Amino acid sequence: MAEKNISMAVIRRLPKYHRYLGDLLDKDVQRISSKELSDIIGFTASQIRQDLNNFGGFGQQGYGYNVEALHNEIGNILGLNKIYNAVLIGAGNLGQAIANYAGFRKSGFEIKALFDANPRMIGLKIRDFEVLDSENLESFVEENNIDIAILCIPKNGAQDVVDRLVNVGVKGIWNFAPIDLDVPKGVIVENVNLTESLFTLSYFVQRHLVFVKKNENVEENNYAASLK
Ligand code: NAI
Repeated sequence: MAEKNISMAVIRRLPKYHRYLGDLLDKDVQRISSKELSDIIGFTASQIRQDLNNFGGFGQQGYGYNVEALHNEIGNILGLNKIYNAVLIGAGNLGQAIANYAGFRKSGFEIKALFDANPRMIGLKIRDFEVLDSENLESFVEENNIDIAILCIPKNGAQDVVDRLVNVGVKGIWNFAPIDLDVPKGVIVENVNLTESLFTLSYFVQRHLVFVKKNENVEENNYAASLK
């Protein structure tokens, strides 16, 4: 399917479409209109039609969308039709939590090894993995066809590790370290920051409190509407 230049905002919404459509498939729902999808996902029906039109549109007037076809197609667009080999660097609290979550593997992201620089961590068993010495990162990446690195180390040293990974051909960095990484063209960094997400929550919580205080009789739903 020919893809136009897709805006980042649309790309950011695709995983959500994929997840909700997966839930519908689990419930054996075979087709759905943009209006019904809108009620579930919360985007407007016209937004949904516009988003999906970017990829040629999968809906048919009067029929709606075929849930399975749409789920598969969005999965293909997201590149979920293959297995990605990953290494995880930094086997501390966060690294272990990620390594212990089985869902990534189910979605096609296969963590092949965990690495750490701390001699006390090296050799520890975490899930199916023995933590490896990060001195040996390059040879492992080269020998195991690694696509993605998951970075769970402090910001000091993170750029060095990334430079080493990029040198041996890693193309995607899932970055949890609180640092803006420099990478050459062709390498993609996806930053994840739970603290930023928490701060966004804090903004809305305190705004809600102020709103409720000012409008003692206002119902909760009106507050939600006021944010749109
Ligand atoms: P931690 O101290 O438990 O684990 C960090 C591990 O990285 C340690 O085992 C350490 O030996 C290892 N390490 C440090 N430098 C290394 C290097 N150059 N090469 C290989 N291994 C190295 O820390 P925690 O709590 O797991 O946090 C790890 C990082 O993730 C921190 O930068 C923290 O700020 C960040 N973080 C980010 C979150 C997010 O939402 N983005 C959420 C939680 C933590």
